[in-house]
Amino acid sequence: MCGIVGILGNHEAAPNLVAALKRLEYRGYDSAGIATVNAGVLDRRRAVGKLANLNDTLVHDPLAGKTGIGHTRWATHGAPTIANAHPHQAQDVAVVHNGIIENFRELRAELAAAGIACQTETDTETVALFTQLHMDKGLSPVEAAFATITKLQGAFALAFLFQGQDDLILAARMGPPLAIGHGDGEMFIGSDAIALASLTDRITYLEDGDRAVVTRAGVEIRDAKGTLVNRPIRRIEIDASHVDKAGHKHFMAKEIAEQPAVLANTLKHYLTDGGEILLPDPGIDFTAFDRVTMVACGTAFYACMTAKYWFERIARLPVEIDVASEYRYREPPIPGRTLALFVSQSGETADTLAALRYCDGKAERIVSVVNVPESSIARESDLVLPIHAGVEVGVASTKAFTCQLTVLLMLALKAAHARGEIDGTSLANHVDALRGLPALMHLGIGQSPQIQATARKLSEARDILFLGRGIMYPLALEGALKLKEISYIHAEAYASGELKHGPIALIDKHVPVVVMAPNDALFDKTVSNMQEVMARKGKVVLISDAKGLDDAGDGVWDQVEMPACPDVIAPILYAVPAQLLAYHTAVAKGTDVDQPRNLAKSVTVE
Ligand code: AGP
Repeated sequence: MCGIVGILGNHEAAPNLVAALKRLEYRGYDSAGIATVNAGVLDRRRAVGKLANLNDTLVHDPLAGKTGIGHTRWATHGAPTIANAHPHQAQDVAVVHNGIIENFRELRAELAAAGIACQTETDTETVALFTQLHMDKGLSPVEAAFATITKLQGAFALAFLFQGQDDLILAARMGPPLAIGHGDGEMFIGSDAIALASLTDRITYLEDGDRAVVTRAGVEIRDAKGTLVNRPIRRIEIDASHVDKAGHKHFMAKEIAEQPAVLANTLKHYLTDGGEILLPDPGIDFTAFDRVTMVACGTAFYACMTAKYWFERIARLPVEIDVASEYRYREPPIPGRTLALFVSQSGETADTLAALRYCDGKAERIVSVVNVPESSIARESDLVLPIHAGVEVGVASTKAFTCQLTVLLMLALKAAHARGEIDGTSLANHVDALRGLPALMHLGIGQSPQIQATARKLSEARDILFLGRGIMYPLALEGALKLKEISYIHAEAYASGELKHGPIALIDKHVPVVVMAPNDALFDKTVSNMQEVMARKGKVVLISDAKGLDDAGDGVWDQVEMPACPDVIAPILYAVPAQLLAYHTAVAKGTDVDQPRNLAKSVTVE
């Protein structure tokens, strides 16, 4: 994970480095640090915890210099301590790194044999130490860094800064993304273009194996074979304005609340006034495919799981889904006429990107559903379907999930119509249901005070179960994930029909069970499962519409009323109470809602 930046500027680098790191905090926030070269002198400052702590450190102990590198860390090797924080320095070289050096034990052994001891628990320190060793043997900084890179195995985006070199940063990429920003007499480096948004809109993306020598005059890039290469400069559109909480206590609260407006915007990008679903060029010919493979991680995976129900039931297209971290390792055969679909908010999730690369050349077509159109996953896809959710800051994904679902539902409907599985009237009815979604969501969000009262009770629980049936099962999984990640309460989700195959043994009077049950075709079956829970003194929180609560609400511990809605959009609408339950429970517990412990917004390592 981790975010890296570099600046060869005409102004003091430290404030801009910190501002760029702020934009990368979604990649990790265990510790942070910067290094600069000032009049040839290499120096660094580091702090444990969030970026604010580094800022404090810099107030008391400023760092001058117009050339610098910076890092925000999500610990992989070694606890989040000052010693393990980046930049790592070995006398005349400082290094920041995103990724994992897999052969770092061998490298340490080699260093030890040369009489060089590591001072930290990190894999990255070996990069700095080897570069210094090579310089001590007479290699120039560029030669020394490149000689070190050839020794590395694993995934890395690296930036190097050298004592005595006010006009030089080296960068290298193998796996994690790295962007070079072009300014006027200034140059920049960032893990992504967003990091550089306030500095430049002209970006060159390094490709795997690339090594870049960056000076204020420009950048010279060589590929893995050492051949000089030309990588294009793209002009990108990124809103550099500061993303704020708009009066909410947390970004997550804001992102939940803005879903009606955000979803309306997503729909506007895909629906014509006449109710046609339009995809970006060149679109998808769904008659050319016999199956769909969908791969993603976490919440995005639950969006895929929900979409499987839509594609199979409405479009009669068989769908295979898998979590990206497993997908390529089971080496699945990919028959011809397969559409491979990758879903990712960030577009930078390492496992999802690797799964996409596994499918490249095997699947007929590679399509991604992403929120960041400039991301690696988007750039490597044949077709990109943006979800238009806007920047999502909260680590717990909310509006991106409902926008992913909305785009996937439109895709399933388009497929169904193209394959002759639904006629124009049925398509129009489904599109009407989608158009009604923002207003229904608004009503759902209006239930926040009731959900807050329920959440206060839930916050005292040690374990919570979520149940759903049919298309509500993935949503139960999403509800449990959301709750665990921000409230730290243990939560599990089950397809409610599975309960008596084992999990019912967990039920007693201490275990709240959240039942997601719109009044749909499976409602009676879900209610039977709910009765089985209540018969064992489980405390049921029933989330349903007025009719559902009327029919089955007797004896429940608590209930949340959602507006009645067409079945097809229920999983999107019911995401709202799942999100609000997690949010209010976390607030009641006093956890760090937007940046929960141990997590990062974007998981850029395996
Ligand atoms: C969701 O709340 C999580 N923080 C996480 O599961 C996330 O959805 C997952 O890491 C995938 O991220 P992506 O959508 O950026 O690929």
